[in-house]
Amino acid sequence: MVFTPRDQISGDAMRRIAIINQKGGVGKTTTAVNLAAALAKQGERVCVLDLDPQAHATTNFGLEPDGERPSIYDVLVRNRTMADVRKEVGENLSLVASDINLAGAEVELAGMVGREVILREAMTQDTEEFDFLLMDCAPSLGVLTINALAAADEVFIPLQPHFFALHGLSKLLETTALVARRINPGLTVSGVVLCLYDGNTRLAQEVVRDLREFLAQSRGTNRPWAAAKVFDAKIRRNIKLAECPSFGRTIFEYAPKSTGAEDYAALALEVSGVIEVGSPAEPEMAAA
Ligand SMILES: Nc1ncnc2c1ncn2[C@@H]1O[C@H](COP(=O)(O)OP(=O)(O)O)[C@@H](O)[C@H]1O
Ligand SMILES: [Mg+2]
Repeated sequence: MVFTPRDQISGDAMRRIAIINQKGGVGKTTTAVNLAAALAKQGERVCVLDLDPQAHATTNFGLEPDGERPSIYDVLVRNRTMADVRKEVGENLSLVASDINLAGAEVELAGMVGREVILREAMTQDTEEFDFLLMDCAPSLGVLTINALAAADEVFIPLQPHFFALHGLSKLLETTALVARRINPGLTVSGVVLCLYDGNTRLAQEVVRDLREFLAQSRGTNRPWAAAKVFDAKIRRNIKLAECPSFGRTIFEYAPKSTGAEDYAALALEVSGVIEVGSPAEPEMAAA
């Protein structure tokens, strides 16, 4: 099978971003939901795709993942279009929901030819224009996450800076390299989002330093993460961010003056500004 690089499929400027980490509890969903809301507030047209059977992003937007309404499952398994299952959840903000049925998708897709690129095909056929498409992935590197990587141009990796944070990272990056080699040559790891950040601890600072050193080793190579950076905007630990999902609200609806809202607004500005892909190490490193 021959795969066409993304920029030959469509000339539009939509940025398709897969938010991945095979570890749970690192801030993927919180980032997908609140970065999306922040970008939408800045006037960007944003669509969130919930690719996790746990459907936390769906719940966070106030929808019940009860298996009753159309969801991404219907796109992947039943050939429905993205337009069929997409729903508006705010100004400039749409959601393709997940539901409990998605838990079976892995098995149902097992024998299907081209199962890794179903999502990409569905996106290619979709005519609706967005500036950003954010894919919230499950904590695994299974077929759903591979579908996200095959459909994405960019990867964001949320990371909680603790002692073992870097351990899973090489496996995750190797997976992006494999997908880039076999299915999606244009795939790029844009950066790491530090979540649940306690900036004043020595541990957090050490992890950030190790992470930068690790990423710097790949500069100038053809690895998908050769230009990856640690985003300057760090998401501090903030109780409001933990509370808002249970109210079915984003941080901007629930606690617009919180540090959580402030941090995701800052991240959105950094993300929507032109990211210097291919730029050398971060300024701090260059200065060091
Ligand atoms: N910056 C933060 N401050 C406080 N709690 C957070 C923060 N980011 C995430 N959380 C909470 O931590 C838990 C895990 O975050 P989540 O985004 O669901 O991770 P993942 O999607 O990677 O499993 C959730 O209960 C979430 O509300
Ligand atoms: Mg999640």
